[in-house]
Amino acid sequence: MERILIEGGVRLKGEVEISGAKNAALPVLVASLLSPGRSVVRNVPRLRDIDTVKTLLSHLGARIEEIDGRTLSIDTSRITSVEAPYELVKTMRASVLVLGPLIARCKEARVSMPGGCAIGARPIDLHLMGLKRLGVDVKVEHGYVIGRADRLRGGRIYFDIPTVTGTENIMMAAVLAEGRTVIENAACEPEVVELARVLEKMGASIKGAGTSIVTVEGVRELRPFDHAIMPDRIEAGTYMVAAGITGGEIRIRNCPLRYMDAVVVKLREAGISIEEGEGCVTVKGDGPIMGTDVTTLPYPGFPTDMQAQFMALMSLSKGTSVITETVFENRFMHVSELKRMGADIRIEGHSAIVRGVERLSGAPVMATDLRASASLVIAGLAAEGITEISRVYHLDRGYERIEEKFSALGAKIKRLT
Ligand code: EPZ
Repeated sequence: MERILIEGGVRLKGEVEISGAKNAALPVLVASLLSPGRSVVRNVPRLRDIDTVKTLLSHLGARIEEIDGRTLSIDTSRITSVEAPYELVKTMRASVLVLGPLIARCKEARVSMPGGCAIGARPIDLHLMGLKRLGVDVKVEHGYVIGRADRLRGGRIYFDIPTVTGTENIMMAAVLAEGRTVIENAACEPEVVELARVLEKMGASIKGAGTSIVTVEGVRELRPFDHAIMPDRIEAGTYMVAAGITGGEIRIRNCPLRYMDAVVVKLREAGISIEEGEGCVTVKGDGPIMGTDVTTLPYPGFPTDMQAQFMALMSLSKGTSVITETVFENRFMHVSELKRMGADIRIEGHSAIVRGVERLSGAPVMATDLRASASLVIAGLAAEGITEISRVYHLDRGYERIEEKFSALGAKIKRLT
């Protein structure tokens, strides 16, 4: 089992480059299923989740070639299977994104129901409701979702919750449906907009991506695409918090600042200085960390994927912070681990009350989900002594070469195999 060892107390200094966004790359890679031919995706981050989606696409018959470290070509001329097996879906629930494209292209899909995960039950009922509204016959048998439709037809879909991958799944089904589809209360995340841009490159007609009402005019066929993935706003936010908590000063290259308003506002309120410069953003933790309240919300609200990282920062604030998680029902798994490091945190319903302490102390801790593990790295960078993080495969799902990037910023961090 790999572990990461951190000796805290180093003020981060230097430059870091942000990789392509995991949550944009996943749906964009899956969108290649919608058209026969060879698509090219650039600036793909090197992550476990990307490896999983490559395995899944290959399983379906795609031929994937790595052109260079971050450019993939995907030839989907032949789809030889419409099944996403349990062992793949259980490692990455975003595998359910193949439902829409497979039904749109092959009229059928068999996808294992995703299990729950550490942060919540994470059902896909809204995905399935949306597909039914497009004329798909949906059954759930033996743990698999089976969707069939000879011809998808446009429809009106209202999401009770602005589901990100639900919006992406339905968009990818609707582009080849007959007629118009309107998605109301659609997710507005930048990664949803990125997918819509790619679908438009393929010949789709989509209006309103990035707003709560997305309209898709179905077309008869699509063509392959060539696209470079946008930078990862959550990775960027993670490095901003790390600079702040260690009292360092870093420059971030490829930082998608325009998609980070809520995070920037809250980090500035917490006393971190964030200045946009020529092609890079300078982040300084040059003063006390101020207690700041945060409530996670769908975009453009404060992202739930930054909640654990922000909590690590607040654990060393000069005051108290109330952090409320409204998106997932169980995304406080990092609290008990942070408390092992000396944080003073009390959970009350969907809120965590964080009282800043003088110092954190390094300890052996366990990662439970992707962003919780990032918060433990951040706490370890600021804690006194050694922090040892186990189950680092969670980290590798969403952070490319995290120990190399932090080492380059001066952190004393290494991976033990
Ligand atoms: C996406 O997950 C992201 N993953 C998540 O990032 C992110 O935390 C989440 O959106 C929220 O922003 C990818 O894009 C691959 P949702 P997704 O559907 O689409 C409920 C990370 O760390 N819901 O927007 O699965 C659901 O339970 C990951 O990179 C239903 O009830 O999230 C949750 O409470 C973690 N029924 C809420 O909606 C459904 O059919 C939002 O979920 C679908 C969702």
